[in-house]
Amino acid sequence: MRVVILESSESVTQFAADEVCALLKERNAKGFGAVLGLATGGTPLGLYRELIARNARREITFANVETFNLDEYVGVPPDSPCSYHYYMLENLFQHIDIDLAMTHVPITHGVELQKSAEAFELQIEQAGGIDLQILGIGSDAHIGFNEIGSSLGSRTRVKTLTERTRQDNARYFGSIDDVPQTALTMGIQTILESQSILLLATGTGKAKAIRDTVEGPITASVPASALQLHPNVTLAIDRDAASGLANADYFLAAERNRAVASRSS
Ligand code: F6R
Repeated sequence: MRVVILESSESVTQFAADEVCALLKERNAKGFGAVLGLATGGTPLGLYRELIARNARREITFANVETFNLDEYVGVPPDSPCSYHYYMLENLFQHIDIDLAMTHVPITHGVELQKSAEAFELQIEQAGGIDLQILGIGSDAHIGFNEIGSSLGSRTRVKTLTERTRQDNARYFGSIDDVPQTALTMGIQTILESQSILLLATGTGKAKAIRDTVEGPITASVPASALQLHPNVTLAIDRDAASGLANADYFLAAERNRAVASRSS
């Protein structure tokens, strides 16, 4: 795993935006579109603001980009401000030059959920797979809504949210009682099939989850620890989120060496 420890949440935003832009430019130069996996929540908001700004300055285009979101609540209609459909429109899609028909957020309203999950998996396959999956991480180390105990071989399906996740997300709903009990989420195996993965984390509230993900054993009790199995994962985290790492100095040294190697190549 590449662990990039950055000074601030703003540096995490800039790092993530540079990674996304590099992929889009590389694909554009080859005449292909990129397939992005997207997350919601508080963490990627800075990234989305930065992508909107770079798109407005015409540094990047989303004209040939297809997107797949990690998850959507069950029981929240897509036009509700609490839905992830709404979040994506509000915070990214309606501000950039993307074709909305190329954006996919799991459908949980007015459908049979298992069929919707299977259709979602098929759409990812038909798009040729995800090139770059952006992830946040829950304070209990969930990725997507793969909560503790999620099979490391899981695919898109309905998951029950933990009390802790519902508590963490109550800020978007007003009260914990209004937070749905379940969500449709990409599975851990679905996530692991992405070509590359970029996990973002900021703040001390994520420090334990990051430590367990990077330095603990691979276990379904820490869903993000499954990322240790993936050959192309980068964690971009601020100093607070890195504060629980026993090997922070090693990761900082590895990044310094990487910078030296790229300057001399
Ligand atoms: C969101 C998602 C979740 C969040 C996680 C962290 O689509 O899949 O795994 O990334 O709950 O949320 P924030 O960023 O709000 O701390």
